Amino acid sequence: MADETSIFIGASRKPDDSYQRAEELLLRYGNRHGLVTGATGTGKTVSLQILAEGFSNAGVPVFCADIKGDLSGIAMMGEAKDFLVKRAEQIKLDPYQFQEFPVIFWDLFGEQGHPIRATISEMGPLLLSRLMNLTEAQEGVMNIAFRIADEEGLLLLDLKDLQALLANIAERADELSARYGNVTKPSVGAIQRTLLVLESQGAANFFGEPALRIADIMRTTRDGRGAISVLAADKLMMNPRLYATFLLWLMSELFEELPEVGDLDRPKLVFFFDEAHLLFEDAPKVLIDRVEQVVRLIRSKGVGVYFVTQNPLDIPEKVLAQLGNRVQHALRAYTPREQQAVRTAAETFRPNPDFDCATAITQLATGEALVSMLEDKGVPAMVQRTLIRPPSSRLGPITPDERRKIIAESPVAGQYDEVVDRESAFEMLQKKAKEAQDAEAQAQQQNSGGSRWTIPGFDDVLGTGNRRSSNRQTVAEAAIKSVVRSVGSSVGRAIVRGILGSLARGR
Ligand SMILES: Nc1ncnc2c1ncn2[C@@H]1O[C@H](COP(=O)(O)OP(=O)(O)OP(=O)(O)O)[C@@H](O)[C@H]1O
Ligand SMILES: [Mg+2]
Repeated sequence: MADETSIFIGASRKPDDSYQRAEELLLRYGNRHGLVTGATGTGKTVSLQILAEGFSNAGVPVFCADIKGDLSGIAMMGEAKDFLVKRAEQIKLDPYQFQEFPVIFWDLFGEQGHPIRATISEMGPLLLSRLMNLTEAQEGVMNIAFRIADEEGLLLLDLKDLQALLANIAERADELSARYGNVTKPSVGAIQRTLLVLESQGAANFFGEPALRIADIMRTTRDGRGAISVLAADKLMMNPRLYATFLLWLMSELFEELPEVGDLDRPKLVFFFDEAHLLFEDAPKVLIDRVEQVVRLIRSKGVGVYFVTQNPLDIPEKVLAQLGNRVQHALRAYTPREQQAVRTAAETFRPNPDFDCATAITQLATGEALVSMLEDKGVPAMVQRTLIRPPSSRLGPITPDERRKIIAESPVAGQYDEVVDRESAFEMLQKKAKEAQDAEAQAQQQNSGGSRWTIPGFDDVLGTGNRRSSNRQTVAEAAIKSVVRSVGSSVGRAIVRGILGSLARGR
């Protein structure tokens, strides 16, 4: 099937409602991005499902989020239900074949799929600040924290690394302020408290190793089909900020890791961004600019990004302008904002003299959409009223048993299931503190004439651990600084990366 050049998405109809012709998405423009919109219950998820099926059959790996669990059925063979068969006949889909698709289930919480993790340093200060909803002053401190980790060779992998670093920074606030600008204890404290909230929301699972390897979401099967990675997002949706930040991170990782490829005959990966409004809701301008930039540039890396959302007004204009392949399901038009959305949606299409776009949008049936795909030379085709094809896989969710079986047989089974906790900032800072304490104990012993007895293993009882001197902090600080600096250069500087993670705001 990998020699096909298009994906069949449905059939358009003439003004008298009779069959007009097949509507297709040209694979060579699959990286020109897309948009699926429509009110609730109008057929967005099914449209996403049939697009994902089409890409998979064409050998293109797909990554998508499953918000309500109803996309998971794509892993199972569909059934000939009456309304599906009827739809197939209406659009002259003959034969209407059923098929199961190669699915890899993922879950940030590790429950409904293989755990997905990223390291703190991969996430970077910009996305972390967004995730934690930090103020500008706090974000400044976060940037400084990353710089310090970088300069002092402290690996930031999981939440406790960041916590340890922040505790260390709070202790050295005065010294660090002199070097980097304002690092106040209250702002560090505020970040620490937000981190605790994040932890209580389950984000601790997400930060750490083994981190997701991009290659694992770009797999194909032996028979040449693209794997469909389905991210369980029902629980994730209770923390929309984590959801949005994660998908942004993934997009920036793809951007960072994939080489430039120019125009290909089909994309290398297609990425569906469901509930896309969450990306942009109260997002700072700098972030929106970055997203716009990534969407624009990722095209030449062969990645297509498809936004799925209820209302086209949810997407900033600059991003919207880059979404070439469009499926517009029905919108309601009761409130002024809804009417505005209908007008905006209608105006973005190349008009069709056969019907009025704005009127049509409010009259579309379930599973019917206004469709305009890019045609020759990448120009948007004239908009068509289109009945979307029924899926070949199951409509609706899979059972927990079916899911378990697929997870157990997945090509990444066993690779991500266990957390690996290698030495990083937390352990390093702990060790330094311990060394500093020991050094201080020794100094005190010498001060007291070295007459103290110790019993191995009972240092803390007999030693100075319970008689802390007032200069303990400074001794500890000094030791941390010197040892940590010597480690610094060997770990390398590039701990912060990613177009969305980098420090420089302006870039
Ligand atoms: N192309 C189609 N062919 C046949 N039936 C369809 C098609 N599209 C949608 N339907 C029917 O409409 C129902 C609702 O579609 P879907 O779940 O895709 O809506 P939605 O826009 O994703 O809704 P929500 O916003 O609530 O997630 C489906 O369960 C199915 O019964
Ligand atoms: Mg849906």
